[in-house]
Order: sequence, then C-alpha cells, then structure tokens
Amino acid sequence: MWKNTDEGYGRIARLLHWTMAVLLLGLCGLGFYITTLTYYHPWYRIAPDWHRSLGMLAFLLVFVRLAWRFYSPPPPLQAGLAPLEKLAAHGVHLALYGLMFAMPVAGYLLSTADGRGVDIFGWFTIPAYFPPSKGMETVAGKIHLILGILLVALALLHALAALKHHFINRDNTLKRMLTGPTSH
Ligand code: HEM
Repeated sequence: MWKNTDEGYGRIARLLHWTMAVLLLGLCGLGFYITTLTYYHPWYRIAPDWHRSLGMLAFLLVFVRLAWRFYSPPPPLQAGLAPLEKLAAHGVHLALYGLMFAMPVAGYLLSTADGRGVDIFGWFTIPAYFPPSKGMETVAGKIHLILGILLVALALLHALAALKHHFINRDNTLKRMLTGPTSH
C-alpha cells in the first residue's frame, strides 16, 4: 500500500520517515564530528562539503514529505491515548517538522555568511542570497548548534516513546511505521 490508511503509514510515508531519520541523525553526528576536526585532518574539507550537500537534500525532502502528508494524511494516533499523551505526541511531531525545516535554513545562512554559495556534490551551486556578514555567521552558527542539540534530544524522546508503546503497551504504534497497516 503506497498511501496512508487509518490503520497505518503507507510505503511512501515510511520510506520518507526512515530515510530522513537516518539522514538527519547522520547529519547531526557528522556535524558534531566536524567541530572536532583540525585544519590538517584529511576530512577537514570533505566532511563539511558532504554535510552541506546532504543538509540541502534534507531540506528538499521535508517539502516532499509535507506535500505527501497533505495529499495522503497520516493515520490518527493510536486509540486509547490519554489527552496529555496525544498533546505530547502531536507537539513532538510538530516540533520535529519545525526543526527539519529550521535546521537547514540556519545551516544555509551559516554556510553563505562569507558570501559564497553552497556547492551540492560538485554538481551545482545554490547561490548566496545575502551579503557577507560576520554577525550572521555567529548568530546562524549558534542557532544551528542549539537546533541540532534539540533535534537529537527530541528524536531520542520520540524513539523512546515508540519503544515504550511497542514493548510496554504492546500496541501497533511502532509496527504501523515499520511494516505499515497491520491487522490487530
Ligand atoms: C530513530 C528512531 C525513530 C523511531 C523509532 C521513530 C518512530 C516513529 C513512529 C513509530 C512514528 C509513528 C507515530 C504514530 O503513529 O503515532 C513516527 C512518526 C514520526 N516521526 Fe519518527 N521515529 C524515529 C526517528 C525520527 C526522527 C529522527 C525524526 C525527525 C527528525 C522523526 C520524525 C517523525 C515525525 C515528524 C512523525 C510524524 C509523522 C506524521 O504523522 O506526519 N522520527 N516515528
């Protein structure tokens, strides 16, 4: 099943969710790794190039994901959740979408603060739309770091909640994101 149903996520939503989960957590790991690299390290230039290119890909994917979500709405939350649990689940999902959007924007502003565009895998360059600014580099850099820490913390909370539903509540929350709609 390609589209979402009331019982679970379809193939496209699952593919987008897990591709983006790996991509975003990988980007966070790579981002923290980059901060440890010294000038003479062989990855000093390659790692940020990959980070920028993959970050812009993640930015594109969030629009594809939102468009697909609009076209094929997600299933309602698992039945039987307390109102506070529903609020928490929706709040975390919304915050994760916000971060998926804001992280690349801050990354773009940080990368282009020296007036240079963002080179994408050596294929083409996204131009710098703002004049060079040291102030923008500092502010965008701080925001990018704080959002990255928030993303990792929220994704961890989100993953722990999914595991709690699977192993403690023994409901379909994780299954319907792993294998799609399931019969009870
Ligand atoms: C790596 C471990 C992860 C696990 C085990 C996991 C698990 C899940 C599950 C089970 C759902 C469905 C929840 C439901 O139906 O009520 C879900 C939805 C969602 N996940 Fe994850 N997830 C993970 C990582 C991430 C990451 C890294 C992000 C983004 C940064 C993310 C963003 C979302 C969003 C936005 C939804 C809501 C989708 C929608 O209904 O539009 N997840 N996740």
